[in-house]
Amino acid sequence: MKENKIRKFHIETYGCQMNFSDSEIVASILTSQGFEASDELLNADIILLNTCSIREHAEDRVRKRLHYFRSLKKKNPGLTIGLLGCMAERTKTALMEEEQLLDLIAGPDSYRHLPALLAQAESGQKAIDTILSSDETYADISPVRLETNGVSAFISIMRGCENFCSYCVVPYARGQERSRDPQSVIREAKDIFLQGYREVTLLGQNVNSYQWKDGGETVNFPLLLEKIAALDIRLRVRFATSHPKDLSAELIGTIASHPNICKAIHLPVQSGSNTVLDKMNRKYTREEYLEKIKAIRSQIPDCTISTDIITGFCDETEEDHRQTLELMKEAAFDYAFMFKYSERPQTIAADQYDDNVPADIKERRLREIIELQQELSSSSNHRDLGETFEVLIEGISKRSNTQYFGRNSQNKVLVFPVTVQNRGEYVNVKVKRVTSATLIGDAV
Ligand code: SAH
Ligand code: SF4
Ligand code: F3S
Repeated sequence: MKENKIRKFHIETYGCQMNFSDSEIVASILTSQGFEASDELLNADIILLNTCSIREHAEDRVRKRLHYFRSLKKKNPGLTIGLLGCMAERTKTALMEEEQLLDLIAGPDSYRHLPALLAQAESGQKAIDTILSSDETYADISPVRLETNGVSAFISIMRGCENFCSYCVVPYARGQERSRDPQSVIREAKDIFLQGYREVTLLGQNVNSYQWKDGGETVNFPLLLEKIAALDIRLRVRFATSHPKDLSAELIGTIASHPNICKAIHLPVQSGSNTVLDKMNRKYTREEYLEKIKAIRSQIPDCTISTDIITGFCDETEEDHRQTLELMKEAAFDYAFMFKYSERPQTIAADQYDDNVPADIKERRLREIIELQQELSSSSNHRDLGETFEVLIEGISKRSNTQYFGRNSQNKVLVFPVTVQNRGEYVNVKVKRVTSATLIGDAV
């Protein structure tokens, strides 16, 4: 290794928005220690893979990537390769032993130690740190914004999860739930606003259970939202994800009463059957879920609601599946992420239940769910025909340089001819045509 050479690192990220946000923290920690970020994989001295374990497929992608990195390392033996994130945490040293390629392994709470771990790896010793913390929130670290459009940014407000949904690996990969000091969240939001950002998404596995106690004051999630929304009316606030069991009337009221808190709620239901929900350890019933949907629809009539659905969970019957389809219709979801159940090692389901829905049935149920959601999403878009929305301009459309694209408060993408306004500014757009994914309109 050459002395005094600035070491270039490249981070590749998989998984959820929280992982992308973590990569920005990693970039900040490394650049503050004299490393330089590189967009170019092939230019880097250090490649870091920030990984996801949520489904088997997510881990398969990482393994494929590692195989490709093996060929790079053959050509450049000085290359340091590190595994970060949830798969690093879940598999600990197993991949290092299996793949004989990794120099470094760091779990999600170990990123402050990366400079020391890299030094160790570069001296020829394998470096491993997968200790989870009960209080690490990286609150004092200003993330280096990667792959940014300069308009919207993500801020992690809590880490970990203790809900232990029986299918889910996150509590094992990310550890105890902890909230971040609200002052540091507000400071970060203020900072990005001053840098020109106009939209912030507050992130956590279950943002509704955000809570910070400081002396006599308790800041819960609605209060934190309110404080961020109060910074400037031109700053839009979004958040993800909400767990249905903790979605309170107070939160619905807060969203309804602040024009710059976006009218879009992501509320993963997972299944429409009480038997399955119980087995999943979701802690709500289909009836309770639908009550919450009703409350949202009546108090925030222009709110979109999106969801996550898992099909083919252990012992799921045709009747359970039918109830999921029924619930989807009743909730009239505007958008959904839909998955086949994938058994994850360590989880309660892997331990106690049989992954007994055959692959072809999972496949067929997923197809039915996707087809229904396509109809629901299309009706949702058609309801917007002729409506006018305030759109935050994100940039020039990929398809045509005479068109802008941006989002409305409801998180739908709108495409419209370039206006006098610029990226990061608001414009009213009237919808005149819809496709399955986009609203097309004109500035008015
Ligand atoms: N904290 C969020 C979800 C995080 S994971 C919440 O509780 O809603 C994102 C989504 O991945 C989940 O909502 C679920 O639909 C899906 N998912 C999680 N574990 C899965 C598994 N083992 N198989 C298939 N999908 C899974
Ligand atoms: Fe996983 Fe459930 Fe936690 Fe979401 S709430 S991350 S699904 S354990
Ligand atoms: Fe994946 Fe970890 Fe996020 S498992 S979904 S990267 S919290």
